[in-house]
Amino acid sequence: MKKILILFLVLSIGYNAQDYEEGKQLFRNNCASCHNMEKRVVGPALKNVVKNQGKEWTTAWIKNNNDLRASGDKHANEIFKEYNGMAMAAYEYLGDGPISNIVTYLAEYNDKKAEAEANKPTPVASNQPVVVQSKGLGALEIVLLCVIVFILLVTIGILQYVLKSMINAYKKSKSTETYLLKKIDLSFDELNREFDGFIEEEVNKRVKIKMKTFENDIKDTIKKSFKK
Ligand code: HEC
Repeated sequence: MKKILILFLVLSIGYNAQDYEEGKQLFRNNCASCHNMEKRVVGPALKNVVKNQGKEWTTAWIKNNNDLRASGDKHANEIFKEYNGMAMAAYEYLGDGPISNIVTYLAEYNDKKAEAEANKPTPVASNQPVVVQSKGLGALEIVLLCVIVFILLVTIGILQYVLKSMINAYKKSKSTETYLLKKIDLSFDELNREFDGFIEEEVNKRVKIKMKTFENDIKDTIKKSFKK
């Protein structure tokens, strides 16, 4: 039920908007040669006529202002006099529907205009951010940017420092390693040499002893054989 009501409402608003647009078109075609909504041209400005005279009077005037004047209507005679008895044609031939649409247009003109004006700032506002953006950065944005750049620089510095000290530590460990290795190598060589010397000495000693005993043995045998 609610849905149907809403649909009806939407349709009636849409229908009303259609009335307004049709009235506007009819006004342009039939009345705009003598009337402007805002200002007096040949005939009076019409933006407040419905507000001041009412829908019924306005409809009657448009249909046949002559009849209205003849009926003794006060305002109809006054306005006719004001415009020096210049006759405005009767528009009965347009039909009740179209005339009612024209009256809708006259009646709602001010509202629609206000509405349009109220809506106007929106497209302007939607364009504005582009302009504002091209104006440059605000103070807050500059401060934020500075903070971000500072943080970045500090981070880069820290990273560099860490990397450097890592490389240094690696280098140091490498050099001590090679140093130790060299040292071990050296002492090994020395040890080798010492060991070689020791063996040489020992061998020499032994050979000497052997030679001595061998010499003595030979001497002994020679002595023995001579004794015999
Ligand atoms: C040939 C010019 C002319 C045309 C076309 C014309 N009018 Fe008028 N209208 C006048 C004049 C002049 C008056 C002032 C009263 C008079 O002299 O009759 C007037 C008065 C009016 C008034 C009364 C204004 C008031 O303040 O009370 C209304 C309403 C009006 N016209 C509506 C219309 C509409 C709607 C149309 C088109 C369908 C129309 N007129 C077409 C000349 C014209």
